[in-house]
Amino acid sequence: MAAVELRGVRKRYGEVEVVRGVDLTIADGEFLVLVGPSGCGKTTVLRMIAGLEELSEGELTIAGQDVRGVPPRDRDIAMVFQSYALYPHMTVRENLAFGLRVRKFPAEEIAARVAEVASVLELAGLLDRLPKELSGGQRQRVAMGRAMVRRPKAFLFDEPLSNLDAALRSQMRVEIKRLHRELGATMVYVTHDQVEAMTLADRIALLHQGVLQQVGRPEDLYDRPANTFVAGFIGSPAMNLLDGVLAGEPGAPAIRGPGLLVPLLPGSLPAGLEPGLRVRLGVRPNDLAIADARVASSGDGFRGNLEVLEPLGWEVHLHVRGEFGPLVARVERRDLPAPFGPGSPVRLVVDPAKVHLFDAETGKRIAADA
Ligand SMILES: Nc1ncnc2c1ncn2[C@@H]1O[C@H](COP(=O)(O)OP(=O)(O)O)[C@@H](O)[C@H]1O
Ligand SMILES: [Mg+2]
Repeated sequence: MAAVELRGVRKRYGEVEVVRGVDLTIADGEFLVLVGPSGCGKTTVLRMIAGLEELSEGELTIAGQDVRGVPPRDRDIAMVFQSYALYPHMTVRENLAFGLRVRKFPAEEIAARVAEVASVLELAGLLDRLPKELSGGQRQRVAMGRAMVRRPKAFLFDEPLSNLDAALRSQMRVEIKRLHRELGATMVYVTHDQVEAMTLADRIALLHQGVLQQVGRPEDLYDRPANTFVAGFIGSPAMNLLDGVLAGEPGAPAIRGPGLLVPLLPGSLPAGLEPGLRVRLGVRPNDLAIADARVASSGDGFRGNLEVLEPLGWEVHLHVRGEFGPLVARVERRDLPAPFGPGSPVRLVVDPAKVHLFDAETGKRIAADA
């Protein structure tokens, strides 16, 4: 297994630069998820690691070795794609063995590796079937098995679960996580799905328009998003981002905006910020609570009216509109006042420790320890 290191990596197609200076070190044995919206450059980064695309600029090492110019087949890396393209006329066993056969491995070695991989992936009972006799999830496991029999230095996954339905996707997430633990292999996993990123990753690298926005553990990106893009991308329903200005006294700072007044923790701001500074205020839907449904005209928090109530079993999503615009709150059903319905005035409050602040100009996180 091996560490993968990118330094100042750029990729241009003609005039267009689609990867714009990526620095990323993936540790030996780490599960790194590269996540970002469609078209941000994820596949391009993965294909450069695999050797399927050349770098326009920058450095790339695998296990400490400069691999620029090394062809894909000599990089000892396995790639699993969204479309897994099994050989339809070959059985599962033949599909698993194929890569080793063309590399002229001895028959006993091939049989041993296929048996081992089939056992890890729970494919042992399916070895004599053809791909068309398998479910989508089983086919996906065969595709992973084909990569595993080679015992590569690292695995690259490009949206491997995108073609599966929701139930199977969550089942495969668990499988992949278990697989990573058992193999201890370096894995770089590309997805546009923040839930996949949060659940699978040791560390997440969030890419937007070819630029890394933040690299860290899932909880780092969730608890301390580096900018408004990360704040809005990670978490569902998405973080509310509203306009405001810095107000209050130095010892009792607050954010004021149309329809909102939000106290901040003393000491949570860097020194020297001027009152009146324009900010983006970030609050996660689950960090909001209903203060009072009847007396909505006074007190701090967010004052608005309920537009839509979405029941989801034990929790309820409230779509509230105020002078600040739309706001989503996620509360427990039992906390709803009665009567309460579309048009009801509502005041929502947030724990000051749960407030995120971003510079309105740059979008960067504002915090005393940022
Ligand atoms: N061979 C290519 N020629 C020109 N543009 C490309 C090529 N491959 C990808 N792109 C462009 O690069 C950008 C990033 O693509 P890609 O890495 O596939 O994004 P992602 O995998 O994050 O959806 C897109 O705008 C895409 O259109
Ligand atoms: Mg892609």
